[in-house]
Amino acid sequence: MNNVIDFINTNRDRYVGELKEYLAIPSISALPQHSGDVRRCAEWTAEEMRRVGLQNVRLIETPGNPVVYGDWLGAPGAPTILFYGHYDVQPVDPVDLWESPPFEATIRDGEIYARGAADDKGQVFMHFKALEAHLKQNGRLPVNIKIMLEGEEEVGSAHLDDFVRRHKNELAADVVVISDSPMFERGIPSICYGLRGLVYFQIDLRGTKTDLHSGSFGGAVANPAFVLAQVLAQMKDRGGRVKIPGFYDDVKPLSEQERAEFKRLPFNETKYKKDLGAPRLFGETGYSTLERVWGRPTFEVNGLLSGFTGEGAKTVIPAVAMAKVSMRLVPNQDPDRIARLFEEHVKKAAPKTVEVKVTRMHGGKPWMTEFDNPFVQAAGRAIQKGFGQRPVFTREGGSIPVVSTFQEELSLPSVLFGVGLPDENAHAPNEKLDLGNFHNGIIASAYLYEEIASA
Ligand code: BES
Ligand code: ZN
Repeated sequence: MNNVIDFINTNRDRYVGELKEYLAIPSISALPQHSGDVRRCAEWTAEEMRRVGLQNVRLIETPGNPVVYGDWLGAPGAPTILFYGHYDVQPVDPVDLWESPPFEATIRDGEIYARGAADDKGQVFMHFKALEAHLKQNGRLPVNIKIMLEGEEEVGSAHLDDFVRRHKNELAADVVVISDSPMFERGIPSICYGLRGLVYFQIDLRGTKTDLHSGSFGGAVANPAFVLAQVLAQMKDRGGRVKIPGFYDDVKPLSEQERAEFKRLPFNETKYKKDLGAPRLFGETGYSTLERVWGRPTFEVNGLLSGFTGEGAKTVIPAVAMAKVSMRLVPNQDPDRIARLFEEHVKKAAPKTVEVKVTRMHGGKPWMTEFDNPFVQAAGRAIQKGFGQRPVFTREGGSIPVVSTFQEELSLPSVLFGVGLPDENAHAPNEKLDLGNFHNGIIASAYLYEEIASA
């Protein structure tokens, strides 16, 4: 193993140069004008997988963006890892808030800034380099590995469940490994054992067939912008509790043991608030911040659009109003059931004075695993070796929809070992990855394969 670690230490600078190349491809899955870049990124990913020594590397077409697949299966009798990640990234707007261009990776204060640096290209690349070190130094890996990278994670993985079902046999493995989440805190690596689920909607209201002069018509018709505000106000109360009837029916309560464990984590609420620039924190009454984000569901407004929003004033009653909203879910809430309850609640909340259209968009199921499984323990040892520090166990508020699919369709446990940071600015301007964590992450990944081999 020493020769593998030496190789990683010697090649440290080369890795950063290569990562910059990867981060230069604007693989934004949400924007149709970037579909060529998404494909180019899939091809670059495949080329890189071939360069590091993986076999059977190919793009597998789906009705959407291709899955990049590759494997190395030369360790008969050893466990097989299914590695999952994504090569697509989020849009970059508001682009003028970036301090350096999002697709020209720039290093400042030991962090590499670019869209995808943390979510998820940088973390995928870390595993490529760990695999390369093993393969270049020893000509073999201690485990078998199947790598499956998708290009639609940031838009809800619409075609992935079907892909997993169709390729059940090819994807057979013993454990899933994913690095697509932040660590608990700078200097405190973590293993994540739970993710929230998601249901996402667009609500469209129409009041009249066209915009109206607010003097001639104000008072005679409903204003869809105002009605939208009233509808949204009926989704959550002032105590942060979702008001959709039945919403909490299937929520698995946080156990006293889990609450005690969360409390033991070195979470600094004052710093958290300051880092976010929030005048005050807000969430469901009766729960701590970590409990709210990790273990409780929520309703959020993701975007609002209506009427005149330019400079100056315009006296108008908008014809339409639109909101994007979503709910983060926890075990054992079912996205389909929650979607039904939400639609019913919107229909009841909206008056007859407007036409209402509710469109369901993407989503995914919540996920949670037991962390006494031997692979999680193996990951803990690997992280300790890579970071010189034992990991803490965390849940996360974000979603990776395919994780529950791996559980349900392939009966596979997942180990989520992420090296991002809470202030990595994922989905926001100035996304970044700490290069020290990137390097330690490569070492930890290299150990992970060895530890899993002996788990
Ligand atoms: N990397 C994130 C998931 C994540 C975020 C895990 C924070 C843990 C903590 C992932 O790329 C992501 O953003 N997923 C989307 C999924 C959605 C589009 C279905 C999310 O959570 O919004
Ligand atoms: Zn991600």
